Amino acid sequence: MGRDLCSLGDIAPLVGQGSGFHKAVPEDLFIRQGTNLETRWEALRGQGVRVPNDRFFVRNHTSTPLIDAMDWRLVVHGDGVARPRAFTYDQLRSLPARTIEVAVECAGNGRRFYATQQGQPAKGTPWGLGGIGVARWRGVPLRTVLELAGLSPAAVDVLPVGLDPEYAEGGVNLGHVRRPLPIAKALDDVLLAYEMNDGPLPPDHGFPLRLVVPGWVGAASIKWVGDIEVSTRPLGSPWSEGLYAGPDGRPLTHQVVKSAFELGWEATLAAGRRHVLHGRSWSGRGRIVRVEVSYDDGLTWRRARLRDRHPAWTLWSVAWRPDAPGAYRLMARATDETGATQPDLTPFDPNGYLFGAVVAHPVIVT
Ligand code: MTE
Repeated sequence: MGRDLCSLGDIAPLVGQGSGFHKAVPEDLFIRQGTNLETRWEALRGQGVRVPNDRFFVRNHTSTPLIDAMDWRLVVHGDGVARPRAFTYDQLRSLPARTIEVAVECAGNGRRFYATQQGQPAKGTPWGLGGIGVARWRGVPLRTVLELAGLSPAAVDVLPVGLDPEYAEGGVNLGHVRRPLPIAKALDDVLLAYEMNDGPLPPDHGFPLRLVVPGWVGAASIKWVGDIEVSTRPLGSPWSEGLYAGPDGRPLTHQVVKSAFELGWEATLAAGRRHVLHGRSWSGRGRIVRVEVSYDDGLTWRRARLRDRHPAWTLWSVAWRPDAPGAYRLMARATDETGATQPDLTPFDPNGYLFGAVVAHPVIVT
């Protein structure tokens, strides 16, 4: 415990600079997007499956709060539990732990391409493809905590609430970031994580405790959680109705299939040489089974070599020898184990969520 608080103290001065983040924000690792940090894909080149904390994207509605784990409690309450109770940090850490390696990905990842590829701008943060990261998360299954609080068989929804500042949009205060989870998902594979990549959860990623909701849009993975309501009636919140809902008004759940090259945007490559290009593909519904790449605007496709078929994302490579200088567009298209393949177009969503179409990545050959 003392070590965690000490390391928080070391980085606290950054908060005073008004950055809203605790970690350093070097330009070669991140693109700033308002209150958020997008990971640069070229910063993933040479990294393994897990994205190191120093380059993991951050999606903050407001700013990263500084929470003292000694004073903090996780309160579990509501008519869906028979024994409402508060857990201390140490109590949670003494419960049987589980470790998972999964992605957290923003629902708006790729939103920019609605405008740049499909000519229809969507509202919201114009993420490229860097609103995703995979980490090793360690913590307590949400199920364990709910059962310790005497979960009722009649419970239908679970509402985790974040301790970051309240969020306002269009002059309306929407309150603390919170999003209901159906009980079936809550009891399935959701983790209350207190470690990320083998160290304490960093402040920007939810210290002291966050949800990690595998396969679902990142908005479900509430950070800095301090309160969980368990209800026998369906619960709502702006983060499931309107925000992070689909065009049909239903809360978004699973992520779609996507691919990205570990290359800078408009990266420069030498003509007449063989280049080994690397990339990653992922899906919220299961493993990637096939990745194809095109260098001629989708006329012909060739299979990429799948180098690491990790369940969270597949790392792949492909060789390319561009003969002539010029501007090229690289494309990667993946298929997951459910048979879902990235389309050429994603049906428009005015909120810009779940962009899954093949992205044309420009490179300059000199
Ligand atoms: N939880 C709180 N309390 N506040 C937030 O702003 N953002 C959500 C989610 N949990 C958010 C939150 C969104 S939209 C995403 S995509 C993920 O956190 C991002 O997690 P990360 O910042 O650790 O990458």
